[in-house]
Amino acid sequence: MRGGYFMSIIFNEKNQTITLNTKNSTYQMKINEHKFLVHTYYGNRISQMDMAYLHIDHDRACSGQPDEVFPGRIVSFNTFPQEFTSCGIGDFRINSIALRNEDGSNGADFRYVSHEIKDGKYSIPNLPAVYDNGGEAQTLIVTIQDPITNLKVELYYGVFEENDVICRSARIINEGKGMVQLQKASSMSLDLEYGNWDMIHFHGRHALERQVEREPLSHSIKTVGSTRGTSSHQQNPFVIICDHKANEDYGNCYGFMFVYSGGFKAEAEVDQMNSTRFVMGIQDEGFTWDLNEGEVFETPEVIMAYSNCGLTNLSHQYHHIIRHNVCRGKYKTSRRPILINNWEATYFDFDDRKLVSIAKEAKDLGVELLVLDDGWFGVRDSDNSGLGDWFVNENKIKCGLSNLVKEINEIGLKFGIWIEPEMVNEDSELYKKHPDWAYKMPGRVATRTRNQYVLDMSREDVREYLYTMISKILRENNIEYVKWDMNRSLSDLYSGILPASRQGEVAHRYVLGLYDLMDKLTSEFPHVLFEGCSGGGARFDAGILYYSPQIWCSDDTDPIHRLSIQYGTSFGYPVCTMGAHVSASPNHQTGRSTPIHTRATVAMSGTFGYELDPEQLSQRDKEEIRDQIVQFKKYYHVIQDGKYYRLTDIHENWYESWQIVSADQSESVFNLVVTNVMPNQPCINIKLKGLDPEGIYEIDQKTMPEWPGKFGIFGAEAIDRYCGEKEVFTGSALMNGGYTFPWIMGDYPTIQIHFQKIK
Ligand code: GLA
Repeated sequence: MRGGYFMSIIFNEKNQTITLNTKNSTYQMKINEHKFLVHTYYGNRISQMDMAYLHIDHDRACSGQPDEVFPGRIVSFNTFPQEFTSCGIGDFRINSIALRNEDGSNGADFRYVSHEIKDGKYSIPNLPAVYDNGGEAQTLIVTIQDPITNLKVELYYGVFEENDVICRSARIINEGKGMVQLQKASSMSLDLEYGNWDMIHFHGRHALERQVEREPLSHSIKTVGSTRGTSSHQQNPFVIICDHKANEDYGNCYGFMFVYSGGFKAEAEVDQMNSTRFVMGIQDEGFTWDLNEGEVFETPEVIMAYSNCGLTNLSHQYHHIIRHNVCRGKYKTSRRPILINNWEATYFDFDDRKLVSIAKEAKDLGVELLVLDDGWFGVRDSDNSGLGDWFVNENKIKCGLSNLVKEINEIGLKFGIWIEPEMVNEDSELYKKHPDWAYKMPGRVATRTRNQYVLDMSREDVREYLYTMISKILRENNIEYVKWDMNRSLSDLYSGILPASRQGEVAHRYVLGLYDLMDKLTSEFPHVLFEGCSGGGARFDAGILYYSPQIWCSDDTDPIHRLSIQYGTSFGYPVCTMGAHVSASPNHQTGRSTPIHTRATVAMSGTFGYELDPEQLSQRDKEEIRDQIVQFKKYYHVIQDGKYYRLTDIHENWYESWQIVSADQSESVFNLVVTNVMPNQPCINIKLKGLDPEGIYEIDQKTMPEWPGKFGIFGAEAIDRYCGEKEVFTGSALMNGGYTFPWIMGDYPTIQIHFQKIK
């Protein structure tokens, strides 16, 4: 260790290797005799060794050679593992970069120039990035350059030793003469020369995001990505590559998470020699970027993590880095208020009096914050009008926003508000004044989604307008929470302020503009809890989490669907980032009825809140809600800061269970939801994880639905006994023998158990 910093990055002069060590992983590159930057190893931690011996050069037919090896025929760009690929000169695998030089040629041949090792973690101008809290990371910058055009790439590696995480991004600098047009600018590439791999990715659609899909990589290119200008409902910018046999507790797993909220592309190719190349970066379909002399293009970063013991550990690495090194601000650590949101309670049909009565009822239940969702501004009685007009609708909020906020505060609740800054409706004052602020292609009517257009966020005047309007609302009112929504994918991308030749830059400039506005607002109002949202979870990514520590997970609040949405999300993102609410039953998205106990158990493994009309609740539900809030507050630190374990795979069972264990292993909250109850049901046995094997754990709280005895008599005696006993176990018994549940009946019954270590 040196001055608080570990020596995670080691340059071996003799071997010309640069080794990046984390607690359990080693990543290595080597500068070879031709100044190629060769990738030599990424995997389990090893002691000092030049790993270049793993690669053997051979003459492979139709794989060409660089000039300096002539007449040798065994060194080829097409076969050696690289840190960041060249292009146009004979590597026929997927490339990290594609470009057109001033003379029309498309070649770049990057050779090592220099490197530098620094303490701390690099940051990226104008883009979100993982940060170092002090003494946690070291940075390696390796410079490679094309000797003909002088195009330079600085490869950044941020090494978090304790957390087994390495962040990567690339800075492309035009040091040559004339313009270089970038056509693809990835953040990283990784060659895994040996091994057979599966890819796990997270696909979905509106109201069913981040569903887990896993398939073996084969001799082809497997691509997941988004061309929607947002990270998207359809694919999440997080991909895992793992051994075929890897499971929660076993196997080599590599994670790649893109810290970016726009279109992305993740590609994996298994080549002719069975080696796998993985490339991740900004979506290149439609992308160009004119890099003039002296200009720099910064790529967003990828968080890479390696686990030698399965997927749970990989998830823990991501949970830790997101919680501690991506999320920022007051609510990174302090408890977030339990909220009630009026969207599913009223949709657009509300006025200030209705909001006040919701607040009063909610206060009585123990809720701490009222969120006024869509419909409070402009002329917004449906989703066909009003977006862009960020002034209060006094037909609904008759007393004015300031008075409403005061009244809600006097009731004892904090006040939160919904905005969708990036959009405009045709039917709005803003659009009448500035039709040119929305994207549309010359001569065409732009495609509408939800009857709205997208504002050109790359324009400073657009951002200035939004900043002025939104900051005024936040300055003039005691608003302590903002839900920042974005309800469509980007199309018709054409910016009035860019020349024809630069229209390929619009999608990325949109994201840069968005980050600029988010940065300004979140820095000016650090006390405000921001929640990201995009038609539910279409922009659930680490880029947004840099500005808002939580994101609305999905518009689907049905707890049974939420199980698979939150299950998929948990692979990359911690519980404290997942917006989750208890909504009404029957559910508005599916019509399914579920007990309030089940809805709360699922929402508690998220940020927790309510999204229903409390005036419609039965006395019994109200009593239960009061208990839920007390319980959630009691378990808050375990749920939000603890280690999360997926105990069952929802796709394989008729029940789903998961568990969260406090960092010191002294407590654990366990959850079981039976998704398909059966007659004469077998007992469910689940092996717990993450406990202290030598510890003695007592069940000090067990919440479960009331036994629906009237439906049958078979299980009643067993249940009575189950409920009556005070149980004590050793950690090793719970983790090896497991815990057994009696036959439980009812609609989607749930059991939540709190284990307290007593010795
Ligand atoms: C999106 C959000 C919802 C709600 C509506 C309002 O769909 O995901 O939670 O805010 O917009 O229009």
